[in-house]
Amino acid sequence: MTMTELTTPSTAQGLGEESSIWFKLTTLLRGNPHNPMATLLDMTQRYAPRTGGVISVTMANQRVVFLTEPDQFKHVLVTKVDSYIKYFDGLKPIFGKSMITHDGAVWNKIRMPQQPAFHPDMFAEYVPYFLSAIRAKMDRWAELARSGEEIEMVEQTWTLAADMICKALFDRDMPFNPHVVFKCVKTYTDVMNHKSIRLRRQAGELVEMHDEDAAKAIEAWWAVPPAVFAADPREERERTLLKMIEACAADPSIPEFDQQQALDEIKQYLWAGTETTALTLAWALYLTDKHGEAAERIRREGEEVYGDREPTAADYSALAYTRAVIQETMRIYPPIWGLIRVATESDTIGGNEIRPGDRVALFAYGVHHSPKYWDEPEEFRPERWLGDAAKKRKPYTYIPFGGGKRSCIGGAMSQVENTLALSMLLRRFRPEYVGTEPPGIHATVTLCPKGGLPFRIRGLS
Ligand code: HEM
Repeated sequence: MTMTELTTPSTAQGLGEESSIWFKLTTLLRGNPHNPMATLLDMTQRYAPRTGGVISVTMANQRVVFLTEPDQFKHVLVTKVDSYIKYFDGLKPIFGKSMITHDGAVWNKIRMPQQPAFHPDMFAEYVPYFLSAIRAKMDRWAELARSGEEIEMVEQTWTLAADMICKALFDRDMPFNPHVVFKCVKTYTDVMNHKSIRLRRQAGELVEMHDEDAAKAIEAWWAVPPAVFAADPREERERTLLKMIEACAADPSIPEFDQQQALDEIKQYLWAGTETTALTLAWALYLTDKHGEAAERIRREGEEVYGDREPTAADYSALAYTRAVIQETMRIYPPIWGLIRVATESDTIGGNEIRPGDRVALFAYGVHHSPKYWDEPEEFRPERWLGDAAKKRKPYTYIPFGGGKRSCIGGAMSQVENTLALSMLLRRFRPEYVGTEPPGIHATVTLCPKGGLPFRIRGLS
């Protein structure tokens, strides 16, 4: 594998371009600095009943159309999926030309050969590697419990999620410092960094943070995939996602899947599979600290299901309550709070005209918090996910993994990772949230806690 791409990043400021929807949305989200989602919810509740659930906002000559109803999500994600293409302006440095950014036949050619790595039959094979990463994290937490130092939880869960992906899907120990990579990625994806640079430059101010910082962050990020390919395999396993990717790059019948594609696929997995999984686990640890009875029930369930031995893939199915906590966490804090598409042709949604070129935002957070579809939506109630109630729910009222053919390739796998991690970590520790209550929300590409989630780790005797 050549390191064809390691030239100087030239588009590191992409998220700061005025044309980027992320840049524009920061204006709209400014209303409530502690929870920008509240501004959007308020806008939805105020206008959507009068506008067929469709809210159009024109920002810098660009129409952004918010959809707020589950039937509209289905329309865009399934019924007319080919008329709404993916939107990745500003995020190319993170994703390159990986599968997640493509549409149509090329997307199909790239996704299909990788799909088998995410089939549920593979999970039993992955579980020992997830456990190995979780055990390493538990060793680290045992030290933190002794020292009593304060930690930032998203960084903790990010490094765990990255380790799980490297071990299970790539057959590698992380060939990079995950703490450094975490900080690089955050520097880039924090739109406000880009925005403040731009605005302060426009105002003629000298700025302390430079575009070069984002460029350096991206340079470090781009160094990761070649390091993954170059690292020694842990066990020389025959059937891994990395091997599938290498086989595609060597297959002349898929010319689109070249060596650059292979590098970009690794980037994609290390972002899409790490950031989202990590945010979910970090928010789940916050919620279970706040709701001690849920943490206790998770501990009891682990005791009953796997006791003193290590959990297996079969045990995962039996950890119903722990899994429900993860599901409820993703309802309250969906890591991907909105899905963005670009309309390629004229359409009508909820009686509103959609024009080619419109940016269409599916407001997932809004539906997850809608009293129309959830009893007391602001309440943390894992029980919603147990028994028959969950089966009767209206489709597309819960879309943490998107929907239709472009839904998340790793969604089911992430549930296994997070259910096992939450169960094992809570059985040994009592992580204590020590930040402001409630934590602030920072909505960029993902739904992050503002300033992170500070914790202290306490051991359980
Ligand atoms: C809690 C964990 C996760 C959440 C909430 C999540 C969320 C999502 C969402 C919402 C999408 C669709 C985006 C859209 O339609 O615009 C998506 C796509 C994707 N996710 Fe995930 N994801 C998670 C975990 C993972 C994992 C573990 C992996 C792989 C290791 C992964 C890899 C991908 C890929 C490759 C796509 C693009 C699929 C395509 O375009 O065909 N995700 N994810």
